[in-house]
Amino acid sequence: MKKLILPCHEIEGHLVPPADKSVSHRAAILNSLAKGETVIDNFSEGADCKSTLNCLKAMGVVTEKLVSNNCEERLRIISPGLRDFIEPSDVLNAKNSGTTMRFLMGLLASTSFFSVITGDKSLRTRPMGRIVNPLRLMGTQIMGRGNDSLAPLTIRGGDLKGIEYTMPVASAQLKSSLTIAALFANKETTLHQPAQSRDHTERMLSAMGASITQDGNTLKIKPCPSLNPVNIRVSGDISSASFWIVAAIAHPNARIRLDNVGINPTRSGIVNVLQNMGANISLINTRSEGGEPVSDMIIESSDLVGVDVDKDMIPIIQDEIPILALAACFAKGNTMIRDAEELRYKESDRLNTTATELSKLGARIKEYPDGLLIQGTGSLNGGSCKAHNDHRIAMMLGIAGLLAKDPVTLTGSEVVDISYPNFWKDLETISKV
Ligand code: S3P
Repeated sequence: MKKLILPCHEIEGHLVPPADKSVSHRAAILNSLAKGETVIDNFSEGADCKSTLNCLKAMGVVTEKLVSNNCEERLRIISPGLRDFIEPSDVLNAKNSGTTMRFLMGLLASTSFFSVITGDKSLRTRPMGRIVNPLRLMGTQIMGRGNDSLAPLTIRGGDLKGIEYTMPVASAQLKSSLTIAALFANKETTLHQPAQSRDHTERMLSAMGASITQDGNTLKIKPCPSLNPVNIRVSGDISSASFWIVAAIAHPNARIRLDNVGINPTRSGIVNVLQNMGANISLINTRSEGGEPVSDMIIESSDLVGVDVDKDMIPIIQDEIPILALAACFAKGNTMIRDAEELRYKESDRLNTTATELSKLGARIKEYPDGLLIQGTGSLNGGSCKAHNDHRIAMMLGIAGLLAKDPVTLTGSEVVDISYPNFWKDLETISKV
């Protein structure tokens, strides 16, 4: 679908960003490991989380939409518990969702049946060897295309061994997949991470009774085959909120309020990086919800300056790098982002799609094998861009359209449904053309 985005003279208003996609996946998958019933409030309405629910249903988990007293999505999950999952009668389809596929690989490895998991064209090109290798060390039989590194993958699990393993990448999906398998292994598993990544899995599993300890970047997970389900209210997604944050700080006439945004320190690095660039972001009413810190935010027009992004920040801001690159176009001076090669393995090659599409609007961006150098010019032109079937690239270009001097046409705008089905409606709400 083609979308025309018009430049706006003011950005103003109040939004509640959608439910956190990462936390929603975890709330459904981790609670399904336990036998019993869970209610999840504010479950993500994005297509990725629907893929997770469909795969769980194929193994005997029951999911029901409940009526809630506000317009949030309330979901009941009734699970027989992992030990009583049924063998899926058909191929599981994670569609576009890397989180679904990688988490379920750890889950399927922990069952004793045979399963096949696949995804859409984009997911079938994304690296799965990083999960296959350690799950094999734990005792799982897995095969797939591309020398067992690409989906479709066949899995026969059961009888897992606890291992000590040094992860080759700082990936929360890899860590979570192995953590799930570790819960059903015969002895403790130790995972050494190259750097800290988002820790929603550790928080939620600990609340469910698992014993997970962290010392530096090393995690120890004790077997815990019987977990207790927990009710959860999912906070707003900082990754979705970051589009509005950048819209407001980069626009000369802006003031917005965002409510209920998750600010887990392993996710909210984008706020720190933008504040270092001079962004006017105030966090108010900070509180805890569902075991996660949450805040409301006031964001105003800002005079931005370019920065060198610290490499330790990369794993905790990686989903926000496309929108950070857009902010950098409106900063004074250069912004350098390195050590971000992982972005090449997301829903699109995000270093390339960010550089290519913003360059079409006149941005000065140099692409490195592992990063981007953005020369801030303070303005963008109009033009025609493509979303590359990547929700975060589509939303970044939507914000670019609000900030550019002339209209931007975006092809493939419907891909926002993956994480933020109301994105275009919310964009209209806060932009005054
Ligand atoms: C996610 C982890 C990140 C992120 C993805 C969601 C998660 O990937 O890019 O969008 O929910 O665990 P990594 O596995 O590379 O950390």
